[in-house]
Amino acid sequence: MQLTLLVLLLATFGLAQAAEQVRYDHYKVYKVNIDNRQQLELLNAQEKPLQLSSWREARQLGDSSDVMLPPHSQPAFEQLLNSLRCNYSVKIDNVQSLIDAQQPRQRLGHMEWTQYHTLDEIYAWLDLLEARYADIVTPFSIGKSYEGRPIRGIKISYKQGNPAVFIESNIHAREWITSATITYFIDELLVPRKPGVRDIATNVDWYIIPVLNVDGFAYSHESERLWRKSRLPSDPKGECIGTDLNRNFDYRWMLIGASDDPCSELYAGPSAESDPEISQLTSYINNSIPEGTIKIYISLHSYGQYVLSPWGHTAEEFPEHYPQMMGVAKGFADALVRRYGTVFTYGSSATTLYEVSGSGKEWAYGVKNITIPYTIELRDKGELGFLLPPSDIIPVAREVTEGFVGMITAAREIGVL
Ligand SMILES: *[C@@H]1O[C@H](CO)[C@@H](O)[C@H](O)[C@H]1NC(C)=O
Ligand SMILES: *[C@@H]1O[C@H](CO)[C@@H](O)[C@H](O)[C@H]1NC(C)=O
Ligand SMILES: *[C@@H]1O[C@H](CO)[C@@H](O)[C@H](O)[C@H]1NC(C)=O
Ligand SMILES: [Zn+2]
Repeated sequence: MQLTLLVLLLATFGLAQAAEQVRYDHYKVYKVNIDNRQQLELLNAQEKPLQLSSWREARQLGDSSDVMLPPHSQPAFEQLLNSLRCNYSVKIDNVQSLIDAQQPRQRLGHMEWTQYHTLDEIYAWLDLLEARYADIVTPFSIGKSYEGRPIRGIKISYKQGNPAVFIESNIHAREWITSATITYFIDELLVPRKPGVRDIATNVDWYIIPVLNVDGFAYSHESERLWRKSRLPSDPKGECIGTDLNRNFDYRWMLIGASDDPCSELYAGPSAESDPEISQLTSYINNSIPEGTIKIYISLHSYGQYVLSPWGHTAEEFPEHYPQMMGVAKGFADALVRRYGTVFTYGSSATTLYEVSGSGKEWAYGVKNITIPYTIELRDKGELGFLLPPSDIIPVAREVTEGFVGMITAAREIGVL
């Protein structure tokens, strides 16, 4: 038994050592207009035959999907599009060149927001904050990931009795701009440079998990830049890995907009809260944060520039607090647009983007009664998608900081805070 384990360990270690970065040379991202159901269905059926990988799905007929294809299947794909009379354009000509542009020539080792940081760098920085701002910062860990990494967060609180905002970020591994943005925001809260930020820092408690999907995030740095899911083996043979953690929450699980195919990018897991990242997140919120103190729950994603509220599972109904959700979303979007003119669209997931169930914001509202629950999709609208250059980090983080000031202001006016 022990010997088997040792051999297994050695094998795994050997594999890990030999693991190479997956390359995406001359992979293209196409933006494909979808005018009818047949086009959508045929496109979705190409995941295996043409190794199509979805970056963003069309939200309705008349909208477009972003899809990535490897070089060898591009001619067949373009033929298919022509035969379906699909209108399309090539948004990204060579995915690898954008990935290369995200890699620093030299790692700074400390947080600068001029490069994308690894999990180790982010955690070393958290250690520093905990030491330097011990009176304001309370570190926490919700537990360990499937591969045994701690899932860390910090609570920022200047005084007792504040209402709280909870933010989880980078639940989808490849959405690097989310942890880059939220770590910048943490820095702003600790050293506020503007009165608006000082106000939301001192009068609100912030619970922030910069990287929730720690395994996927590490994997996206080390092996496969465009990895989305967790790293839990999802079928018995271990051929497919990972759960879409933002489909794994225990509210209307697997109802719609999620997949029971372990190989799908939208695989919801074998059961609700099957993945330790999600079961521990919900236990932490249940057991370690006083009931009723969280007024706003944010799940930070990219890309598309949206503020999305419940419901995800139906476009026919709206939650009781929908007017408040939209009022606060307007506060965010209006404040944000002032900085660089970036336009965010807001509405319910099902009516604005697409149907989804088992996501964090649906659980926050449906189970925890948190009045303002959002999925926020950061820049851009598909020009570079997940591969924004490092020079975009500070602009995105600055506009989001303005957005959060506007969000809190609106929440107070509406009486949510
Ligand atoms: C196809 O794309 C072209 C160029 O973007 C555009 O002018 C045209 O209106 C599109 N046609 C349809 C049917 O969407
Ligand atoms: C969290 O609390 C809700 C009720 O507030 C409950 O329905 C749910 O099962 C709890 N989940 C965990 C993991 O404790
Ligand atoms: C949330 O609200 C519903 C309906 O008002 C209620 O039944 C449920 O107990 C509440 N849950 C929590 C955790 O407060
Ligand atoms: Zn996402």
